[in-house]
This record gives sequence, structure tokens and C-alpha cells, in this order.
Amino acid sequence: MKDTAPVHVKDQSAVEDGHAGVRGRNTRTPTLRLLLTLALSGLILGLASCGKGDHADADGSSTSTSTSRPRPAEPIVAATPPMGWNSWNQVRCHDLDEAVVKQAADALVRRGLKDLGYRYVVVDDCWQAPSRDSAGALVADPIRFPSGLESLVDYVHDKGLKFGLYLAPGSETCAMHWDDYAASGIGSYRHERQDAEMLDELGVDYLKYDWCRADETDGLEHQKTFGLMRDELARLDRPIVYSISEYGDTKPWTWAPKVANLWRTTSDIIPFWPSVASIIDQQAELHSFSGPGRWNDPDMLQVGNGPLTPDETRAHIGMWAMLAAPLMIGTDLDKLTPDVIDALSNPEIIAIDQDPAGRQARRLRSGETEVWARSLADGDMAVALLNKGDGPAEISTTITEVGAQPGSWSIRNASTRKDLPATDGPISETVAPHGVTILRLYS
Ligand code: GLA
Repeated sequence: MKDTAPVHVKDQSAVEDGHAGVRGRNTRTPTLRLLLTLALSGLILGLASCGKGDHADADGSSTSTSTSRPRPAEPIVAATPPMGWNSWNQVRCHDLDEAVVKQAADALVRRGLKDLGYRYVVVDDCWQAPSRDSAGALVADPIRFPSGLESLVDYVHDKGLKFGLYLAPGSETCAMHWDDYAASGIGSYRHERQDAEMLDELGVDYLKYDWCRADETDGLEHQKTFGLMRDELARLDRPIVYSISEYGDTKPWTWAPKVANLWRTTSDIIPFWPSVASIIDQQAELHSFSGPGRWNDPDMLQVGNGPLTPDETRAHIGMWAMLAAPLMIGTDLDKLTPDVIDALSNPEIIAIDQDPAGRQARRLRSGETEVWARSLADGDMAVALLNKGDGPAEISTTITEVGAQPGSWSIRNASTRKDLPATDGPISETVAPHGVTILRLYS
């Protein structure tokens, strides 16, 4: 975690402002296009240079050393929202073991998901033995992980995937709070450096650091505590994506861009449409806080779980893409139905999620039917027509409502991957109940 400096927020909002009311590429003058291109490359270079040389202070502030001497540009950590698989929504504590993790890694490769960008394999809570070893190190549960974490990390890496692990900042993880508790979970409190070094030694690429009532159990304060682990990760040579989770309780979007690469914005998602719809609703005001290297995290995907219908599944993934959200699958990848694998594999939806400009969609109209839009790095626009109602609905918008200049825009239905007639006027689609149509407007 070496790339989350306040400068990102500033630069990104400047560019976002510059794009409010973005012109259609067909109507853009060559000079304007050149200026936009230069502005964008300036942003990317600016972000790329916010690397190791930036010093993160304990209070969460960051001091750039860029005035002292030029540094080589290095890639930003989590430049686009992380994608992958996480054990929690699939097995929680019950069935977590090394076989499940290996099976997920195998399936990501076999089902073509790795090639689409699903790269992180994250072991969530309940992986630990009940006590630290005599040197104070955390140990994997020997029954669940008989081969040890080291060999599991190697297994995942050998497949060209990245490995993630779960820790908690207090004295215990959340495992204790679940009814299906069948595992222990020791927190990193007073072992932060040792545990960060363990991640480094194991070759971990992604840390999920989950609050789990550390304020109640250990009297800890959120920003300082998450900042402490940020500083420990910054000492390491290894770039580790830093994902924090405190369920949106302290409005982390207001402070976490200086601390982490992603932060949860809500309480836990469950695999029912009201949960998905409510989480979408809670993201509407958060668009200005996220961008490359610093993402709002509306929680992991529940597709493939519970009674989510095919339309709800597509709406869940489609809206997560509009929100530039991490796409972490949490279901048995060997049992995906055609609807779920198709939705997870739609390259046009993934391209919106992974758009390099990283601009989270704004909600333009709210209610039972909604219109959301985001501008993309190449000047295209992504538009979501979301139907939260229980019956089919015709949802209309216009080129001007979505913030584009009038002109002849071509329209592609990214959800069905079909072209629609070009228009400079209204756009109308019939959208299924609890469904979404994602459009890409281009010239
Ligand atoms: C919290 C988190 C979940 C999961 C569990 C594990 O509830 O929000 O994502 O990590 O803890 O116990």
C-alpha cells in the first residue's frame, strides 16, 4: 500500500470536473481531444509517481517527496478495482480449507475468469489455529490447512493468480460473532509489525483488514488503527493491496483514501435483492471519493448464492461495474449456472468496471426506476437504466441527461452485447423487474 496520497483525490476531482458535460467524441475538436488526452496522461503519470517515495505519516497524512528528486514512475497498487474470489460468501467458516481455495484457483483458470481479470484468491476469516506459536506468529489451522499457508500461496501463484489473506486489527477476528462459529480468530493487536512481515514472507498480495468491533473489545480508534497497519505495509518491499472493512460506520470514504486502497461502505451484503438494492442506494453520494488506487467497496458479490434471479444477478454485477467496485466472487465456481457465468464473464461490463479513469457513476434520477452514468477514459459514456420495481418498466433518458453534448452517439447495449440505433435524442429501453440495462454511448 504505497499509493494512497491526498493528491489522488485532488487530481481525480479536477479531471472529473473537466469531464462533467463531456462532449461526444464526434463533436470534439482535435485541439480539445489533444488537451483531454494530455490531461489524462498527466493524471496517470501523477498517479504512477505517487509510489514508494511518498511518506505516510502516522496520522494518515502523507508527505510527497517529489520536490527533492525525480522518481521513476511505478505502477499504482489497485489502479483498477480488484477482481477475484473470496472464500467468505461461499463457505464462511463451515467449510473453509485448502481444498476449497485450490478448487477456486483451478476454476478461475479453467472457466476463463482469470483471463478476464479475476486474479485475487482471498482466504477470509477462520483460517487460523486457536493460538499464536511460541514466537508469537499466527499459525494456520492444521486441520483446515494441513499443507500450510506457504504451499497454498505457491499453488495460487503458480497459476498466475494473486493471494489474499484476512486479518483483524483488534484482539480477535469476527469469527467469534458468527452463529456458525467453528473457528478461532486472533487479531493483530500489538502484533501489527510481525503480522505484516508474515504477509511479506508468505508472498501475500492482498490484505483484508476487518474491524470486528475492535473499538469495543480493545478500545481502538478506526483511523489511527487502520493507519498503523498502512504504515507497516508501507515498510515492506512487496506491494500489497490494502482492503479495509469497518462497514461504513465512520464514513471511511472521508478519511480512508489516505489510508487504504479500498474500504467497505456498508454492512455485510446478503444474497437477497433487498440487500443488493439497498447497497446500491447507499453508494449514490460517494462517487467523488473513489478513483484509481482508492475505491469505495460496496462489499463482495453474492451472485450464485441464495435466490437471486438471473435479472438480479445481472443488475448486481452491472451496477457494481457502474460503481467501479471491486468484483470479488464468493460462490462455488464449479457450480455456476449459465446465467451467472455469462454475467460474470461479460467483457463489456468488466471493461466498464475496469475503466482506467476509475470514475464511479453518479445517480442522475432516483426512485423505482433510476438512471446512473459515468464517463469513461476514452470519452465514451456508460449509462445504467435500473429498475428496482417488481414489474417491467420502460426507462427513458436523453443524451443531455447523461451529461453528454448533443451529437450523433452510437449506442451499444453492453448487457446484451448488441448495437442499438444511433440517436441524438431520447433513449428508451424496457427493463425487467430488479434488472438493469447497461448502455455504452460512443461515437
Ligand atoms: C465481517 C466482514 C465479512 C467477513 C466476516 C468474517 O462480517 O464484513 O466480509 O469478512 O466478517 O468473519
